Amino acid sequence: MDSSALRQHDPPPMPARSDHENTDVPVLDTMARPLRDLRISVTDRCNFRCPYCMPAELYGERHEFLPKSRILDFEEIQRLARLFVEGGATKIRLTGGEPLLRADLPLLVGLLARIDGVADLTLTTNGVMLAEQAEALAAAGLRRVTVSLDSLDEAVFAAMSGGKSRPAAILEGIAAAERAGLLPIKINCVVERGVNDHTIVDLARFFRGSGRIVRFIEYMDVGTLNRWDSADVVSAREIVDRIDAAFPLEAAGSNYRGEVARRYRYRDGGGEIGIIASVTQPFCGDCTRARLTTDGHFVTCLFASQGTDMQTPLRAGASDDELRALLHATWRARRDRYSEERAERTDRRDKLQMYRLGG
Ligand code: GTP
Ligand code: 5AD
Ligand code: SF4
Ligand code: SF4
Repeated sequence: MDSSALRQHDPPPMPARSDHENTDVPVLDTMARPLRDLRISVTDRCNFRCPYCMPAELYGERHEFLPKSRILDFEEIQRLARLFVEGGATKIRLTGGEPLLRADLPLLVGLLARIDGVADLTLTTNGVMLAEQAEALAAAGLRRVTVSLDSLDEAVFAAMSGGKSRPAAILEGIAAAERAGLLPIKINCVVERGVNDHTIVDLARFFRGSGRIVRFIEYMDVGTLNRWDSADVVSAREIVDRIDAAFPLEAAGSNYRGEVARRYRYRDGGGEIGIIASVTQPFCGDCTRARLTTDGHFVTCLFASQGTDMQTPLRAGASDDELRALLHATWRARRDRYSEERAERTDRRDKLQMYRLGG
């Protein structure tokens, strides 16, 4: 037999390992955490100026946000989202900045809702534009919404949002979302000592029995602009104790592995609240969240200082396989556990800002 015949009968080379048949083999990071949630920031702009996120003195009227050319368009977002879903994500949350400022958002919702394997599609909004958009978003396939509302007190609300709206407008947005069937509605309240902590029991009281779930969030050191000090954090323990003293609570189990909020039920059947204790009871061990920034960077932690640029290869004509390889390699290399390390860290990280990352 001559050598050319031998070559002909050689078995074909093994195809390069392809990860897109991922449903059986989840992509795991260095701590064996799968990728389950994708948070997409659809704009870096916001119509609020919450001092803990986008302080007005640093983000004036003339602040330059990303130019349109650097913002992923809807087709680009859909394509990347599909690859994330193939990599294991089943839940997509749209964020910002303020996501409702993105023009034609229902079109994007429609594109994402059509991706096979998306079991949950939701968004986090400050609620100001919700009344006008809730119905169109629901019709496009959005399942539910989470609305930020730090206090019902006019002055406290103004101080925490930069004086750009009023609680009544947010409540209208919430009511419109309810009418549109965007359920269950969750309310996010960041708790800051000496700023709104004296109003948390009122907020709990207001929403008790309404089916809307208030989640109190420990004030975090996200970004680099909010002059965070651990003395400003009201611990989950203290939040629960204060609400429990007014309306007795009991702990409830998680809805799913990796749920960020710890759940508590009112003992009298008045519904539930959640506490997001990222500072005093970090949950990095179960963190399954991937973040896609407005300009197409894949970021693996809320406190990261950089991400993997997906936009450049995407726009340079990369194939799905190439993008998938980049995505999987980034997740496999992930070792983030910032909140667990917070207490030990002495270095000052150059963190990305929260409104770029989508919260
Ligand atoms: P559900 O899907 O309703 O369970 O909500 P969620 O917890 O995924 O979403 P949401 O955006 O409402 O999260 C609430 C808040 O928790 C966020 O805005 C952040 O402040 C905080 N949070 C969410 N994910 C993380 C995370 O991975 N790390 C930290 N440290 N905080 C997070
Ligand atoms: N600490 C805790 N929560 C924050 N959020 C924004 N900045 C912070 C912070 N420093 C919350 C917003 C919104 C969600 C996207 O994240 O209030 O509910
Ligand atoms: Fe806007 Fe949300 Fe940041 Fe407030 S926390 S400035 S509403 S993006
Ligand atoms: Fe996940 Fe980073 Fe938050 Fe930990 S600090 S839960 S790793 S996003």
